[in-house]
Amino acid sequence: MTERLSESWRPRSVREIVGQPEAVSILEPWIANPDRPPMAWCFVGEPSTGKTTAAMCVAECLNDGAYPAPDIRTGLDMKVEELPMLHQAQLVCGDFTCGSKRMHKTHSHILLIDEFERLSPHSQNWIKSNWEPLPPRAVILATSNSLDAISDACVQRFSVIEFDSGPAFEKAALDRCVQIWTTEITKRFGVEAPTFAELRRLGDSRDKFSLRTCLNKIEQKLSILTHNAKPPAQRRQEADEHAERIGL
Ligand SMILES: Nc1ncnc2c1ncn2[C@@H]1O[C@H](COP(=O)(O)OP(=O)(O)O)[C@@H](O)[C@H]1O
Ligand SMILES: [Mg+2]
Repeated sequence: MTERLSESWRPRSVREIVGQPEAVSILEPWIANPDRPPMAWCFVGEPSTGKTTAAMCVAECLNDGAYPAPDIRTGLDMKVEELPMLHQAQLVCGDFTCGSKRMHKTHSHILLIDEFERLSPHSQNWIKSNWEPLPPRAVILATSNSLDAISDACVQRFSVIEFDSGPAFEKAALDRCVQIWTTEITKRFGVEAPTFAELRRLGDSRDKFSLRTCLNKIEQKLSILTHNAKPPAQRRQEADEHAERIGL
């Protein structure tokens, strides 16, 4: 299966993140500083504004890509509220060793907690009490759609970076979609990119523009074009195989 566009086009470094100049202007100098202080960041904003992407980029930048982002997410996927997950957090949070043999001693010790707000207040506070004080070279990277569901104690301890979802972000995101369409579709199939207004409609999710939704729609268009471009015999064979799979 081909990698989804939202994954294959996911920025790999902080400077590739579009439409978030404030976040980038805070993170870049901090990453570049060899004496950077340990930090507990929390990236907050609407879905699809690049929070998880930014956390993965920061993790990769800090460790020269030696600690690939997918590992970080798999190891520490704490999107559930159940206490058993805390067991894993304890391993990581308690001494800030990440259990990776590839971890180099000059690298940062990173705890990435995606969608922190989904942890129960008890879990949040447990984590906070275990990260105080942050050891040297330790970094907490948390993301959240909102600060409302995060305990006050954690909010106060986090350095919060807000991710913009306003018109400036939307414009940058639409530009990005045009760039992706042009590369993936126009160059291969000659279909010109839609206008901003059309892309805005494609990405509409509950009256808001969602970059993820728009990328999924572009993905669907790409898969239809790819399917139609196949020779008829191959299409028939694939249709037959599909029918067999679903028992028709
Ligand atoms: N600011 C951004 N710059 C570039 N790509 C982005 C940005 N925000 C989102 N994306 C794209 O949308 C996808 C979803 O973004 P993600 O980081 O998961 O958003 P969030 O965590 O804020 O919900 C990413 O895989 C990436 O391809
Ligand atoms: Mg996310």
